[in-house]
Amino acid sequence: MLLNKMRRKLLLGNWKMNKLASEAREFALASKPLAELAKKNNIDLGVAPTYLSLAATKEAASKDMIVAAQNVHFNPSGAFTGEVSIPMLQEFGIDWVIIGHSERRAYDNETNQKCHDKMKALFANHMVPVYCVGETLQEFEEGRTKEVVGRQIREGLEGFTAEECKDLVVAYEPVWSIGTGKNASSEIAQDICKFVRETLRELIGDTADKIRVLYGGSVKPVNVKEYLSCPDVDGALVGGASLKIDSYEELLRNIL
Ligand code: 13P
Repeated sequence: MLLNKMRRKLLLGNWKMNKLASEAREFALASKPLAELAKKNNIDLGVAPTYLSLAATKEAASKDMIVAAQNVHFNPSGAFTGEVSIPMLQEFGIDWVIIGHSERRAYDNETNQKCHDKMKALFANHMVPVYCVGETLQEFEEGRTKEVVGRQIREGLEGFTAEECKDLVVAYEPVWSIGTGKNASSEIAQDICKFVRETLRELIGDTADKIRVLYGGSVKPVNVKEYLSCPDVDGALVGGASLKIDSYEELLRNIL
């Protein structure tokens, strides 16, 4: 319990492929009082816009708002058509990046090895990965959740030191609960987030107690509090319910 209190709550919106830059800017401006409210209550608040909206969001948002990228390449530059590098993000003051989201794993061949390479580059640049893990519906039904999530954690983070991982965030997002309205129960969320922490402990020892583990998958204002009441759930990664400022505000107010 004491250890849980050491970890600041984190509410992060993943906008996926939504919002024009103008809309992102409008949201960012409207979110300024929320960033202040979050700060007062020791909560970290953020959003992850598309690459093209990062600059507008960063410029318009409170400096206390985390503005995260949804992806990055592990090379600093080169012949990688369509990719964006760490220095390009840093130029805009972006130092958080979502890695290994299940949509990228499913549609863009984002393997555990690729996630590892990306996190290695992020750690070398003192940036914060939000490393997403989670099982498919079939894996869930076959009772293989821990096998899959354990492998994602071990292969993704293999060889990193506790010092490198100290700011890491992990998000457990069961694929079957993303955008489906089918929530994992808070018992499942707690069980797997605890398992994530135990697996982290094998890799980085007691630093695992400092790592924030989020739940994601159909988180809404109505259920966010229940998830965050679980001892090993330190926050939420929210898709759909983070897109409208009113709903985003409600998510925050419900966890104050
Ligand atoms: P939803 O909240 O829309 O289910 O999306 C979850 C998610 O994928 C966040 O990264």
